[in-house]
Amino acid sequence: MDSIINILILFIVIMNWNIKANPINTRWNMHDYQLLQQKPFQIIANDDKELSGKFLHITDIHLDSLYIPNSDPSKFCRRYAKKSKKNKSGKFGTIKSDCDSPYELTNSTFLFLREKFQDVDFVIYTGDSLRHDRDPKISLTEDYVKWGHKLIVKYIMETFDIDKTKFIPTLGNNDEWVHNQLEDGPNTLLSNLTQIWAPLKLNLTSDFIKGGYFRQDINSKLSVFSLNSMYFSNSNDQIKDCNHENSPGAIQLKWIRYQLENARKEKRKVFIAQHIPPLNSDGESFYHVCYVKYVQLLGRYSDIISGHFTGHTNLDSLTFVTESGNIADYRLLYLDKDEHPSIKSNQNIVLVLNNAPSIIPVNNPGIREYRYSTSFKTFGILTDYIQYYSDIKKANKIGKIEWEIEYIASKTYGIKELSPSGWAKVLDQMKDKGSKLWRVYLKYFTVSTN
Ligand SMILES: *[C@@H]1O[C@H](CO)[C@@H](O)[C@H](O)[C@H]1NC(C)=O
Ligand SMILES: *[C@@H]1O[C@H](CO)[C@@H](O)[C@H](O)[C@H]1NC(C)=O
Ligand SMILES: *[C@@H]1O[C@H](CO)[C@@H](O)[C@H](O)[C@H]1NC(C)=O
Ligand SMILES: *[C@@H]1O[C@H](CO)[C@@H](O)[C@H](O)[C@H]1NC(C)=O
Repeated sequence: MDSIINILILFIVIMNWNIKANPINTRWNMHDYQLLQQKPFQIIANDDKELSGKFLHITDIHLDSLYIPNSDPSKFCRRYAKKSKKNKSGKFGTIKSDCDSPYELTNSTFLFLREKFQDVDFVIYTGDSLRHDRDPKISLTEDYVKWGHKLIVKYIMETFDIDKTKFIPTLGNNDEWVHNQLEDGPNTLLSNLTQIWAPLKLNLTSDFIKGGYFRQDINSKLSVFSLNSMYFSNSNDQIKDCNHENSPGAIQLKWIRYQLENARKEKRKVFIAQHIPPLNSDGESFYHVCYVKYVQLLGRYSDIISGHFTGHTNLDSLTFVTESGNIADYRLLYLDKDEHPSIKSNQNIVLVLNNAPSIIPVNNPGIREYRYSTSFKTFGILTDYIQYYSDIKKANKIGKIEWEIEYIASKTYGIKELSPSGWAKVLDQMKDKGSKLWRVYLKYFTVSTN
């Protein structure tokens, strides 16, 4: 009992000393406070920017200005059917159709962001702002592409004070002049985007004009890399695989390695954002050499990379970077819905890749709020996320959209922080196809869509 009291007194003395020694730079918030209660000897990070330890990940807006409620989903919700009973597109979107997002959904999403998330430190947006180019009757034009990107910037500017909250976009595969196609930079798309995104006051250096990727520092301890998965994607016919030295993918890999090395030297943590995940239900989505080299990079710098965020698939899915044997050989393990993965015991997980649900209601739309540590010793480590979603069928029925918490990662998966060792325990509990956690994973995989 005495020793506990002594430790408590020591703790109070140290904390007081710390506050007095740094009267201006010591920042308090609830999250730090909770962490301190768990681990009494952590010292709070001193830096130039006051951090809340929260950020958002949103993805795949796919706004369609031509969407018409009560029109025909087989006509992309843009035209009426001949038979009136086929006019059944919803006001807020049409689940499991080829339709994109109506204004109603987009407006309500940004309204929710504005009302609820003014305190986040930054927003990661993993791309695909524009509608799909599926409708043979109304194909995408370059003017439409530019207009669509400008419109999204307008929404962002009305929603966040970007001097306070950086909004960090990445390039999706529907953000180009032509779906999936982007040639080597510099090119007209990247230079147009540099202009269109200028109001967001991002770090769009020559890196971006040439490669479509950039590094955005949040403070001296944390950087976000906005990568350009178009230069890895095996659907992009304009580029070659990464074994070609001058391919844009090989050049991007070199940039990533250099920037990660830099971060290691400067003791910075890195969050990586890109549109397309390297692996999904259809297999590798990068050209093979790009894929292999990218996965090795993730493994080798897993001590620096605190988070990896993608979109594109409209799914809430987990992918693990595993290390096999003693030699540093890294693989990806994707938890697919249709195929229960063969999970070995004590799999050595070094990093977890999070794919977040989209705004476009292929499944129910989702918005994800992450929490990360702002304490000195554990700075940048992901501690939790809260998954918000909206039940679109219900919204269409009652004529009103409601955003609710779908689940909270730490509670649902029973882990204290989103560390590789925490996730390893989760994975172990999913080994059995009939396990509770595997069934939970499957429910959220498609954003609780019935
Ligand atoms: C639905 O379909 C009918 C054709 O039967 C069409 O005349 C009508 O304009 C459509 N729109 C609505 C909102 O019902
Ligand atoms: C969506 O918001 C825009 C811009 O604020 C506004 O002009 C438009 O009327 C809104 N549309 C709907 C359907 O709410
Ligand atoms: C923007 O794109 C158009 C083609 O749509 C091109 O003609 C123009 O030069 C581009 N602007 C810049 C600044 O690159
Ligand atoms: C901008 O990116 C460059 C690398 O291209 C990096 O050296 C610089 O520190 C970055 N600045 C900020 C504020 O992120």
